[in-house]
Amino acid sequence: MRIGVLTGGGDCPGLNAVIRAVTKSLIRQCRAEVIGIEDGYAGLMEGRRRPLDWASVSGILFNGGTILGTSNRANPLASEETAERAVAQARAWGLDALVAIGGDGTMSIAHGLMQRGLATVGVPKTIDNDIEACERSFGFDTAVATVTEALERVQTTGQSHGRVMIVETMGRYAGWIALEAGMAGAADIILLPEIDYDPERVLEICREREKRQRYTVICIGEGAKPVGGTWTIERRVEASGGADPIRLGGVAHRLREWLEPRLDSEVRATVLGHVQRGGSPTPFDRVLATQYGNQAAQLVQQRRFGHMVTLTQGRMGSIEIERVAGRQRRVPLDHPLLNAARQIGVSLGD
Ligand code: F6P
Repeated sequence: MRIGVLTGGGDCPGLNAVIRAVTKSLIRQCRAEVIGIEDGYAGLMEGRRRPLDWASVSGILFNGGTILGTSNRANPLASEETAERAVAQARAWGLDALVAIGGDGTMSIAHGLMQRGLATVGVPKTIDNDIEACERSFGFDTAVATVTEALERVQTTGQSHGRVMIVETMGRYAGWIALEAGMAGAADIILLPEIDYDPERVLEICREREKRQRYTVICIGEGAKPVGGTWTIERRVEASGGADPIRLGGVAHRLREWLEPRLDSEVRATVLGHVQRGGSPTPFDRVLATQYGNQAAQLVQQRRFGHMVTLTQGRMGSIEIERVAGRQRRVPLDHPLLNAARQIGVSLGD
């Protein structure tokens, strides 16, 4: 059996752990020959690959990024000609199946290639933790740890200067990172894309704290918006198989500009950006990503093609890619952590 592996879309801590687990599992269990495809679907269309053997995946568990490289621009589904070229390349390499590790765009393309005759298995990845049928995505724990550390750091500088400190997290339209890191990093106000915030309420809390505590820490998800506001986001529709990646960011600066003239304190904004995606995965993510990778290898052996790895109630499983592609799992408004936040006096801006 000869199996191709690629990583597509944005990077995420834990990708190397997945590559390692898929490869080791397939080699050990069915002596498969594993081929790493370079730079995602770009490498598939351009015929760039390298062997993945036991030695080449040893020692990569701790490393951030992806040893295979990635690309979120290459889209074999851009035309019938490119789709055929990708499938023909996989045939020329003698691939029995392709394991595609990536986000929504990568999954949609995997589905499209499956329909054109290439057997595929998907491994979903995102730091945003917003994948349908995956209660925890690898990379999320690492991102939360990074944001938490940043919040801890701005606490002391905010305290020293008596400032309002705003920290912006990634997460697109899902507030998981902002919520968990905001709680772990003792933010006073947590603003999520799921709950439109009232700027007047945020101002009121900052004013109250100006009198008593001198400083305020606000954790805001990049997709958060004020009541009645629109997402003032630059949309960047990439060639990504129907998915619509969004360039977010800047909400912390917009909130700072609105707050500062209305307060006595100075206000500072920090946009964490891609530091949340880089670096070594936490131990939790190493274990989780290893489980995702191993499960992908099981799906290949069971010939469950067209399926994506899932995690529900702590158990690895699978679901047809077409049933989940394009669907996001946002923070439900009755999530227990939202209640806990309110109960201990953390404002959600509403
Ligand atoms: O989906 C993961 C994510 O990190 C989002 O949280 C963020 O909005 C986006 O990727 C940024 O992607 P890039 O800058 O790589 O296009």
